[in-house]
Amino acid sequence: MDGAAELVFCVNGRKVIEKNVDPETMLLPYLRKKLQLTGTKYGCGGGGCGACTVMISRYNPITKRIRHYPANACLLPICSLHGAAVTTVEGVGSTKARIHPVQERIAKCHGTQCGFCTPGMVMSIYTLLRNHPEPTLDQLTDALGGNLCRCTGYRPIIDACKTFCKVSRHERIIESTSPKLFSEEEFLPLDPTQELIFPPELMIMAEKQPQRTRVFVGDRMTWISPVTLKELLEAKVKYPQAPIVMGNTSVGMWNSGGAFHPVIISPECIEELSVVNHADDGLTLGAGLSLAQVKEILKTQTYHALLKHLGTLAGCQIRNMASLGGHIVSRHLDSDLNPLLAVGNCTLNLLSKEGERQIPLNEQFLTKCPSADLKPGEILVSVNIPYSRKWEFVSAFRQAQRQQNALAIVNSGMRVFFGEGGGIIRELSIAYGGVGPTTICAKNSCQKLIGRPWNEEMLDAACRLILDEVSLPGWAPGGKVEFKRTLLISFFFKFYLKVSQILKTMDPVRYPGLADKYESALEDLHSRNHWGTSKYQDVDPKQLPQDPIGRPIMHLSGIKHTTGEAIYCDDMPVLDGELFLAFVTSSRAHAEIVSIDLSEALSLPGVVDIVTEEDLRGVNSFGLFDKGLSVQAKRAAKRVKIVYQDLEPVILTIEEAIRHHSFFQGERKLEYGNVDEAFKVVDQILEGEIHMGGQEHFYMETQSMLAVPKGEDQEMDVYVSSQFPKYIQVTWVAATLKVPANKIMCHVKRVGGAFGGKVTKTGIMARPGVIKHGCPVRCILERGEDMLITGGRHPYLGKYKAGFMNDGRILALDVEHYCNGGSTLDESLFVIEIGLLKVDNAYKFPNLRFRGWACRTNLPSNTALRGFGFPQSGLITENCITEVAAKCGLSPEKVRMMNMYKEIDQTPYKQEIDATNLIQCWKECMATSSYSLRKVAVEKFNSENYWKKKGLAMVPLKFPVGVLSTAAAQAAALVHIYLDGSVLVTHGGIEMGQGVHTKMIQVASRELRMPMSNVHLRGTSTETVPNANVSGGSLVADLNGLAVKDACQTLLKRLEPIISKNPKGTWKDWAQAAFDESISLSATGYFRGYESHMNWETGEGHPFEYFVFGAACSEVEIDCLTGAHKNIRTDIVMDIGHSINPALDVGQIEGAFIQGMGLYTIEELKYSPQGVLYTRGPDQYKIPAVSDVPTELHVSFLPPSQNSNTLYSSKGLGEPGVFLGCSVFFAIHDAVRAARQERGLLGPLKLDSPLTPEKIRMACEDKFTKMIPRDEPGSYVPWNIPV
Ligand SMILES: Cc1cc2nc3c(=O)[nH]c(=O)nc-3n(C[C@H](O)[C@H](O)[C@H](O)COP(=O)(O)OP(=O)(O)OC[C@H]3O[C@@H](n4cnc5c(N)ncnc54)[C@H](O)[C@@H]3O)c2cc1C
Ligand code: FES
Ligand code: FES
Repeated sequence: MDGAAELVFCVNGRKVIEKNVDPETMLLPYLRKKLQLTGTKYGCGGGGCGACTVMISRYNPITKRIRHYPANACLLPICSLHGAAVTTVEGVGSTKARIHPVQERIAKCHGTQCGFCTPGMVMSIYTLLRNHPEPTLDQLTDALGGNLCRCTGYRPIIDACKTFCKVSRHERIIESTSPKLFSEEEFLPLDPTQELIFPPELMIMAEKQPQRTRVFVGDRMTWISPVTLKELLEAKVKYPQAPIVMGNTSVGMWNSGGAFHPVIISPECIEELSVVNHADDGLTLGAGLSLAQVKEILKTQTYHALLKHLGTLAGCQIRNMASLGGHIVSRHLDSDLNPLLAVGNCTLNLLSKEGERQIPLNEQFLTKCPSADLKPGEILVSVNIPYSRKWEFVSAFRQAQRQQNALAIVNSGMRVFFGEGGGIIRELSIAYGGVGPTTICAKNSCQKLIGRPWNEEMLDAACRLILDEVSLPGWAPGGKVEFKRTLLISFFFKFYLKVSQILKTMDPVRYPGLADKYESALEDLHSRNHWGTSKYQDVDPKQLPQDPIGRPIMHLSGIKHTTGEAIYCDDMPVLDGELFLAFVTSSRAHAEIVSIDLSEALSLPGVVDIVTEEDLRGVNSFGLFDKGLSVQAKRAAKRVKIVYQDLEPVILTIEEAIRHHSFFQGERKLEYGNVDEAFKVVDQILEGEIHMGGQEHFYMETQSMLAVPKGEDQEMDVYVSSQFPKYIQVTWVAATLKVPANKIMCHVKRVGGAFGGKVTKTGIMARPGVIKHGCPVRCILERGEDMLITGGRHPYLGKYKAGFMNDGRILALDVEHYCNGGSTLDESLFVIEIGLLKVDNAYKFPNLRFRGWACRTNLPSNTALRGFGFPQSGLITENCITEVAAKCGLSPEKVRMMNMYKEIDQTPYKQEIDATNLIQCWKECMATSSYSLRKVAVEKFNSENYWKKKGLAMVPLKFPVGVLSTAAAQAAALVHIYLDGSVLVTHGGIEMGQGVHTKMIQVASRELRMPMSNVHLRGTSTETVPNANVSGGSLVADLNGLAVKDACQTLLKRLEPIISKNPKGTWKDWAQAAFDESISLSATGYFRGYESHMNWETGEGHPFEYFVFGAACSEVEIDCLTGAHKNIRTDIVMDIGHSINPALDVGQIEGAFIQGMGLYTIEELKYSPQGVLYTRGPDQYKIPAVSDVPTELHVSFLPPSQNSNTLYSSKGLGEPGVFLGCSVFFAIHDAVRAARQERGLLGPLKLDSPLTPEKIRMACEDKFTKMIPRDEPGSYVPWNIPV
């Protein structure tokens, strides 16, 4: 072994040599901090979000081929990169050199909003194009499967990438938007010859260098990279406990809670581990092949079942990093491949110093039984996968929370062998994942079924045997116990049907086959190959061509997002003497701290100080500082020992809060008409309730802050990712330091997504971050801590009593709302108030009573999230309407239409409303979606398919916009004209992806009648615009735009005499002339806020300025056996007044819709019965991915309408679209109802939100759900509780 190894690799074509590399260093921090390549982003640190995607290229001196693949830099130890070429987004293109067509197209197709996910998206597509310059649509969706975006809703990203696809030319014609949001003709062509070449130096190195084991020694870890099988075995003998790291996607998780390994053995380019050998009886695959390579190899073979799982296993990056051997040996409980390999009679070829041997990949191996496992010193070289024989069938099944890039809840491999004819089971193997500590085989059940014919009796017996053998206790980790039990046998039923169908095709005489109606159980649901249209308003033909208002201008930072040049808080270079702040969080929901032992933490090198509650006085959190290296501060945080004394009662759920009367202040109430009297005259009364889970913001950029003391006069600059700089400045930093606010300046260049989560919560970092030291302090929350600490959307319980006539008219409604506020008030009461004011959604209820309470519980405090109470409140109302419709035997859409506001009316708080455009949106949505025709088609489909059902639902939207007070809506701007004629605009709004800065430049350009290129905007700062209100509530462009307009008009008025004297002059001439005449070239602009007020005593007011109207119609298909659903199509129609920028506005609507769809269907927060949040990253919490976007998504606007008080008659669109996501919820509801009706279940249907696969499956009751054992409530402590 070579003791003094040098690590050599290339980054963007430049050679990097590391002499004393620390093996613990991951590529992501190395790129960001050491090489200052900050385009590659941190989003989760666990391979789950794709923000850190880079391209790795490796040259194989034997095959002489270069392999390019995408990888997650957060899981790549740099020691594994010897000889590799790394390409980051900076190496793909930049504004300084040339931008790459991928970057150009994503930006110009409006595929970026906050831009934080964008470099990762660029790298995934760039790598795809390096391998396939004209990819198929399937390859495209596959390539994007491992990248999450929280802002765009993916459609524009897909559109951009589709421009590279071979097939897209034809499709592009069908899809062309009218008028277009982007022009393809302008795009740079893709020229593969222009790409960065693989560094010849690395090629020569690979060819020429004598191959020797490399050893890298760090403080805590030693990394050994053997290059021959012999050396690998030697290393393994020497360090039998050391893991063999291939992809590091399993071992690498030690950073987020896994085991730490002092020695790592990571083989490199060992030929024997990459073997592919086709023999007569099967295929032998090297353990070192990546799962992506296995997928490619199997394509030419008949291993359909394995291929099926390889298509959904993780994202493209992980599949390219993870190895077959690593996957098998890890034996994860939810491994997708092990159940299949186990039932497929695969064998493992092992090697040690003692020689070779073979072991079966069977139950004993999977349960790590010592006699069937690898011995210390032994390695897995390859895997034999036998071909299937005639009359042998293998199938794979899996159900996850999300279609793609989500670990299975339950998966399974099943194999049956009949032998020649006869239909008698000769061999049967069934293995499951997700239902035990590792893959579980139903061996005894299979044994008992041997010799039986493949018929219904066998099916029945098999289900009972399986349920008996694979038993799951009620408290089983992961929860969803009854769902998992149901899946065990639902999968077997699918297998039964599948085999029966094949038997029929093989021997139609002997095997009768299935009724058509039941064949629907066989098809998998899969949304792919998306297409969409956007129909928006075109500008008035008379509008001047240079006037940008109303035009689809690209996001100002669009190109910089794609090149990685857009700077976020943590992209700022490390400063001299900088400290890093890490948090120690409580492990108890409700307890007193008895003692804290800091000694171990303080003894760690680099730890400078600890801030505790004593320093903060009243703030129950504390943090640690560390010099420079964030890793050490985080390590130290884990070593703080705290003794707690638990306190009673622990209140976690809304129900518990109601029981203990634990509320923040009293009830909020709104009453209209006379509810009690109305209940006396109605035909029917219905009472119901719905529970709605919370939602995590999942902004891609976690909470970030850098506080920099200026060293003079107690001044401090705080760079922060916040929606509310004034709050950080005044309430947190100035108050903590006890200095006037004029000494503290907060700066926000841009925010990588916020959605309400960066209003109050950012303050958590500010106090401990500034209190103690005169040094710069940086704090960047890890994804897990961010999710744990910062709360999210409030879970809700809605109870309602509706009085209605048999024709569907609702005459009386009595509603109660309870939200789970968590431990502090934050904005919980405001959320309840807004929820109450918006509870009527689009309906005129002549008599109503709304009451709401914010529950105080011991959970982390919840806060604002896009929509602010309306997504919950609206869902409760729509659910009530859906139930009323069921009672009346009418379609929900009919009852919705019947109860809608019509023309001029009055809201429950007596504000006037003109509902003309609401009705218009509804009618247009009905028409564009062909609702009536499709309703008939859905019914026909449902009558022909027993195991799959479709559902169609349409919901209206009336979203009131306003913040209930005039002062809260004031805004200011500052506009300077410089002597060269260029203009600088500043305003109080924060750019968090919605494109407000782009719109502000459009405003300045129109008002000053100058091209947009002449106007610049640097960011938001308390130094230029003081006391700015929070950026939120869909109003940022509305309010700040009026202020910018005011400032520009002031300037123009001052300059008009000068301009009229020299009308042909340039801005430079006019600015100079103004200067010479001592006319100020700087102006502030101000908007005092919309007149608004609300009196809760009288229940009257004018809290909102205007209403955004809309409607959405969604169609889904569900699999009644697994609970999977597919989003087939959504049509959205919105009344947005006059759009300032239709590209940005479409983006807001689509992004909000997809976020809402996630909220109502798959995003599920999980808490332990002790109140500990389990869901702390993208591996456990699923936001929509590219595969969840409806296959068809059509967005259109009503023709422009006047909206007298707003900026150019525009409307705010940041939030309204979230609620439209519930059209998917009700479409699923519709499908479930159809399934239940067919099964004779005609009673009320209670479905809570989110409507996950678990809830869908369990609601589609059938003989399988009846068969499963049920646990007596109270007889066990469940793994998780709904809060
Ligand atoms: C974000 C993410 C998503 C995922 N999604 C899925 C999913 O949907 N479905 C699924 O099934 N899995 C999923 N996984 C798990 C993934 O499949 C495994 O982590 C991966 O296959 C492990 O392979 P590796 O090469 O990275 O293993 P490594 O981490 O390198 O090694 C894992 C273990 O295998 C041992 N080992 C490796 N090679 C050998 C060998 N040749 N001989 C002896 N021992 C060896 C090591 O000692 C170590 O203990 C996901 C993982 C991540 C990070
Ligand atoms: S940061 Fe690497 S995948 Fe999320
Ligand atoms: S643009 Fe994708 S996360 Fe913001």
